[in-house]
Amino acid sequence: MSTLTKILTNKEVNCKSIWFMRQAGRHLPEFREVRSRNKDFIKLCLNSKLSSELTLQPIKRYNLDAAIIFSDILLIPYALGQNVKFIKNEGPSLSKFEKEKFFKIDKNNFLNNLKPVYDSIKLTRTNLNKDKSLISFIGAPWTLLVYMFDLKVNKVKIDNVKYNQSINQIRNIINNLIEFLCLHIEKQIEAGADVVQIFDSWAGLIPKENLDEFCYKPNSKLVDFCKERKIPVICFPKGLKKNYLDFNKSVKPDGLSLDYELDVNWVKANLTDVVLQGGMDPKFLLKDEDDIFNEAKKYLDTFKNVPYIFNLGHGIIPETSPDKLKKLVNFVREYE
Ligand code: CP3
Repeated sequence: MSTLTKILTNKEVNCKSIWFMRQAGRHLPEFREVRSRNKDFIKLCLNSKLSSELTLQPIKRYNLDAAIIFSDILLIPYALGQNVKFIKNEGPSLSKFEKEKFFKIDKNNFLNNLKPVYDSIKLTRTNLNKDKSLISFIGAPWTLLVYMFDLKVNKVKIDNVKYNQSINQIRNIINNLIEFLCLHIEKQIEAGADVVQIFDSWAGLIPKENLDEFCYKPNSKLVDFCKERKIPVICFPKGLKKNYLDFNKSVKPDGLSLDYELDVNWVKANLTDVVLQGGMDPKFLLKDEDDIFNEAKKYLDTFKNVPYIFNLGHGIIPETSPDKLKKLVNFVREYE
């Protein structure tokens, strides 16, 4: 059993487990080398051999406790018929959402489009040591919708006019997305994934009156789906601030990934009965070693007597030095 599974299922305390969101990615020179030869990002995700190789790169370099399959949350809108492009320094850009196309997509067709992801998981599992977890992931319906509808006007706001005009459509689409996301989870588990993480990266943009409907309920259905299959599931409802508390009470995931805005003492007092993960601001990795270690210490000390998985409060920033990350891993492993 991996250390990650031990903590998530047995709620073990004082068991060290470390992995990072975006551990496979642009901060690694070996990733950039592969990426420079593969200009189409979606195609790269759908190349089983390469995506498996990229999944294992951070394991080789840092000997982390879990690998997260190299893929993207936006493969779902892609497999549902929307065109997805990644524009350098700007992020993803999707073709206009077409309702007729979206509601017509056939399940076999959808799974066929994503088959390389399942093949990559199978291949990775055979090359990954048994004492390490293989994490699969999905984007929560709301976060996918933010991209599918291009709802963001900048990093901190949604386009209210667009949002209000789309609200009825959002309701129908969320339910349809849940069905496809469950299929995707099921196939990833069948292929050998042993933990699921649900990214609701834009949960913080949902107006309070719609949080239950657009965040808690959809996450809850996906969590129940994993629990029925006895697969531990971690939720990351980024940006919810104190609503993390209501989220935890209604969704009841096995693990809750903390974002960097949360105060550790508030977390310890309020987010109980759940395994905690992450929290440290990835920007600290751009500072000096002492600052990095002090910040890591804060998390390790506060969560010393509760089940805790070491990670960051969001993905690794591309400018992060792999040497500093390696030093952080060693520090966490050795800290008592
Ligand atoms: O190492 C890992 O964590 C596994 C792979 C992974 C990727 N994306 C690869 C990737 C995971 C878990 C994701 C999840 C993801 N994708 C999320 C949720 C987590 C989060 O960051 O909030 C979101 C919102 C996306 C959508 C997405 N994909 C964006 C906004 C971007 C561009 C900007 C950015 O943050 O990198 C991507 C591209 C992407 N996905 C890259 C990688 C390695 C960079 C591709 C490149 O340009 O080389």
